[in-house]
Amino acid sequence: MNQPVVVDSVAALRAQIRDWRRDGLRVAMVPTMGALHDGHISLVRIALERADRCVVSIFVNPTQFAPTEDLDKYPRQLARDLDRLGVAKADLAFTPTVGEMYPAGFATKISVGGPSAGLESDFRPTFFDGVATVVAKLLLQATPDCAVFGEKDYQQLCVVRQLCRDLDLPVDIIGAPTIRDAHGLAMSSRNAYLSEAELTIARQLNVILRNTAVALAAGADQSDATEEARRALVAAGFQKVDYVEARESLTLAPWRQHRAGRLLAAAWLGKTRLIDNVEVAST
Ligand code: PAF
Repeated sequence: MNQPVVVDSVAALRAQIRDWRRDGLRVAMVPTMGALHDGHISLVRIALERADRCVVSIFVNPTQFAPTEDLDKYPRQLARDLDRLGVAKADLAFTPTVGEMYPAGFATKISVGGPSAGLESDFRPTFFDGVATVVAKLLLQATPDCAVFGEKDYQQLCVVRQLCRDLDLPVDIIGAPTIRDAHGLAMSSRNAYLSEAELTIARQLNVILRNTAVALAAGADQSDATEEARRALVAAGFQKVDYVEARESLTLAPWRQHRAGRLLAAAWLGKTRLIDNVEVAST
């Protein structure tokens, strides 16, 4: 099986991309933290529809994990990831070390406002600074024509769009639909932490969100509907619900009835935190 070329230095990444550009090729990037699943592979497919070459970065970014979070436990399975990328026909895997990305003396942090407010930030206050900093670095290292991010991490996608707009990064950001299992559970590397019993509960998350989105689009009171969703999640077996909130789909400002919206949620099953989101149709 063909595997992608693997490089772990910024210099080697840039040399390869320079060669492609000399040949007039268009380059797409898919930033990941590895533990690749079908959701990531769908991003590679979309990247290759938009460009001639696809670079996938695999880097478990320490700056987006709080000290209490699962950085050490985060699944790392490079050999399997490279096999999957080979099948998907990705051209290059960029696998930098922490030292390559954050050499001694590194002292910069990018903080994006606007869509980063609330939701994830209420529970992971340093998360988007870590994401914005690493994504800015990756996009400046690879200078791709376009980069693909999943809608599964919807707030992250909005933050990345804001980052590129505000810093004039000349990269077309493409949002890709969430890939779900047969029961609607959004693919996530963290699903690997779930037991069979927890998986059954996890599959209720998208069902409850979809029902709530339908109720909101039909005119239900927003705080009643989201409170009911919280109750339904707990009744389904989630131990704790961080948020269930409707937001405007582009800006993530508070949602107003009849507008195109997004219903976003985060909830805990044991030690695993799941997030998901669905569209709220405009009426
Ligand atoms: O979504 C992810 O996997 C990460 O947050 C990203 C965008 C690769 C940055 O580390």
